[in-house]
Amino acid sequence: MENIFSIAEYCLHHVDIEKKIDSTHHAWELLKSDQLSFESLDSVSPISIVKFPDKPKLLKPRDMPRRRINSLAGKTAFFHALAHIEFVAIYLAWDIIYRFRGLPNKFYHDWLRVADEEAQHFTLINHHLLEMGMVYGDLPAHSGLWEHAEDTQMDILARLAIVPRCMEARGLDITPQMIEKFKIKGDNESVILLSRILKDEVGHVKIGSHWFKTFCQQRELNHEDKYKELIEKFYIGNPKGPFNRELRIIAGFSDSEIDWLEKREHE
Ligand SMILES: [Fe+2]
Ligand SMILES: [Fe+2]
Repeated sequence: MENIFSIAEYCLHHVDIEKKIDSTHHAWELLKSDQLSFESLDSVSPISIVKFPDKPKLLKPRDMPRRRINSLAGKTAFFHALAHIEFVAIYLAWDIIYRFRGLPNKFYHDWLRVADEEAQHFTLINHHLLEMGMVYGDLPAHSGLWEHAEDTQMDILARLAIVPRCMEARGLDITPQMIEKFKIKGDNESVILLSRILKDEVGHVKIGSHWFKTFCQQRELNHEDKYKELIEKFYIGNPKGPFNRELRIIAGFSDSEIDWLEKREHE
């Protein structure tokens, strides 16, 4: 029987994009047919040996060209940036599985579903890019995303607060605005693609909220206080709004957490 942690290790330590996507879908199919073992046999390698492809070239956020979706170049730059977010999201989902052992099987089940959906998102965006004459890797990309994984490698609560409940939650604020912009332009294909991704991403944040609260409860911690503490510790600068209250509530945020984020934004 194949082992979830061996497949996770393969996906984190090899750079071939096609094989990574195929292995991710393969693992999800195995899990659905009850043919995947969750036994933790090997030791966990340090996060520093996780490998990314040579392309795209990674740049500091401040060195990234500004993108406006009104030109074809701007639209391709937007979708290329999104392809990169989805690509790193595949790694993030595998890494939370790989690095944090001894948790309930349902935890691994949930994050493998996320990995599978991120791989689908990446493929869909790459097709969209191809129609615009580009593939993932043709433009430079943002270097900052993986730093959040490195910063939180030792602490599952920090990982859940920062990755699904901060980075991915930010997508819930921004994607509806982008959908509106593409609607105004009459770009139906982009609207359908982003709407599909948004629906899944609400689910990812919800999974993050669920496990964050579950683990806080097990440790007899107040989850709202712990969330605020971790954001203050790991998030550099003030949280960025505006926050999409409606979607964040569906994804497991409380009104008081969102009130706090809004207050922090303006501090
Ligand atoms: Fe995604
Ligand atoms: Fe996601």
